[in-house]
Amino acid sequence: MADQRPTLTTRQGHPVRDNQSLRSVGERGPATLENYQFIEKITHFDRERVPERVVHARGTGAHGYFEAYGKIGNEPASKYTRAKVLNQTGVQTPVFVRFSTVIGGKDSPETARDPRGFAVKLKTVEGNWDLVGNNLKIFFIRDAIKFPDMIHAFKPDPVTNQQEAWRFYDFISNTPEALHMLTWVKSPWGIPANYREMEGSGVNTYKLVNDQGVAHLVKFHWVPKQGVRNLTAQQAAQIQAHDTSHATRDLYNAIKGGNYPEWEFCVQLMADGEHPELDFDPLDDTKRWPEDQFPLLPVGRMVLNKNPDNVFAETEQSAFGTGVLVDGIDFSDDKMLQGRTLSYSDTQRYRVGANYLQLPINQPQDAARAHTNQRDGQMAYYVDEQGEDKHINYEPSLMGGYKEADRPEHEYRPHVEGQLGRYQTSRTQDDYKQAGERYRTFEDWEREDLVANIGADLKQCPEPIQLRMVWHLWHCDEDYGRRVAEVAGIDLEKAKALPPMEGKPAPHQAREGMAGV
Ligand code: HEM
Repeated sequence: MADQRPTLTTRQGHPVRDNQSLRSVGERGPATLENYQFIEKITHFDRERVPERVVHARGTGAHGYFEAYGKIGNEPASKYTRAKVLNQTGVQTPVFVRFSTVIGGKDSPETARDPRGFAVKLKTVEGNWDLVGNNLKIFFIRDAIKFPDMIHAFKPDPVTNQQEAWRFYDFISNTPEALHMLTWVKSPWGIPANYREMEGSGVNTYKLVNDQGVAHLVKFHWVPKQGVRNLTAQQAAQIQAHDTSHATRDLYNAIKGGNYPEWEFCVQLMADGEHPELDFDPLDDTKRWPEDQFPLLPVGRMVLNKNPDNVFAETEQSAFGTGVLVDGIDFSDDKMLQGRTLSYSDTQRYRVGANYLQLPINQPQDAARAHTNQRDGQMAYYVDEQGEDKHINYEPSLMGGYKEADRPEHEYRPHVEGQLGRYQTSRTQDDYKQAGERYRTFEDWEREDLVANIGADLKQCPEPIQLRMVWHLWHCDEDYGRRVAEVAGIDLEKAKALPPMEGKPAPHQAREGMAGV
């Protein structure tokens, strides 16, 4: 029977008659340079790799959909937001999600102790909305200017090319706002069992804006219907000994087998404003909003039901950014959020290219098709439809082209006033309280794992870092500091005798009996 398969061609559409041999002068002679077929093939291959993500390089993705309940808790969602993706019921919004670890390279083991990325691109009828989150609800720092230093300290040493505990703790010990995140990451919560049994959170504070132009502060969270499962360091080591891709495999196989993972989407809300009555700053992403005061209100659900057809085209080239919001969801003055918003699209123009938004994985859906006057640049694919007006790539014009959108009846226009300056960010004075509360509310096995992990790390650190870390942990909770000092063989009395850190607020003593967060 004749072979019905399509014929192999070059990218120019020329049939390839021999894909096995270079063209050479005689059987043993030199190759020739005008061999287009070979040159196209090999030079394209030479360019197959693009830079990996500077952070979150190791990841995996899946497609699915989001469905809003049309309510926020018991109230119509439209009371809080005019974003259709959240207030229209029965509409399935296509999503693409990429899960990741943070510090390791593209092929690093997925058992690493690290926050997990949980980035969601929602292709809404009003354009894309990216919620670029992590599994944990908080972060190490609260000012974006510290991010490059933090990542340098956590990534391999430029000389030894290894992650060094002393560099990590050197940074943390000088950054008390990181103690809360440290307490989560060094507990079993720092190694989620896989991507399906893991929470997600937008971490930063955003705003919801309704059609009257009234705003509320909001935190976004994903709650897995599969439950949450984490690993101890020992359990993770056992998996890593025979599998460095267990989380990618788990997600891929679950979806392939029709066992679609699902998350409930929830918000925490607070009236817009400064909230001096709270003992934390709602714009400080190193603090949680206590859930007994600010309950998680269900808003919708997300199901992942399709694996990518091609990892590079979809997962690797996907580009998420915190600046990608729809009308009705807005920025707060959270200084991490504001710094992140520049960083993502900037790195993507470098990592993927100036026209990264023309790629199918990043394009908005048809109902929100892009019509811009942006032109040219590398790899331009001419995606902006212009109908008869192909000459008019500018605005305004009497002759045609694109027009501006109508303005909403009630624009959201917050009043901003202040002294320009560099501030030690948050009005939160107590970076120890929530870390201590978390230590006390962990289950016993989680606390033991936490103490063992930090103790083992500190053994590898020089004395000044050991003492300052124990001093910090002791101020979070006396038992926390004492037990870590014991495991690491550090002199607790010497640590306690250290003076407060210069330029940092003195820690309050850990308060007994505070409610868990
Ligand atoms: C990825 C910057 C904080 C979650 C990235 C990337 C950059 C970056 C440059 C690579 C993006 C790419 O190549 O496409 C920053 C900066 C931060 C910050 C400057 C602080 C100022 C955070 C925080 C979270 C987070 C607080 C969690 C809420 C993520 C995730 C990804 C990522 C999930 C991977 C997205 C993907 O899967 O493509 N970040 N980041 N980042 N970041 Fe951040």
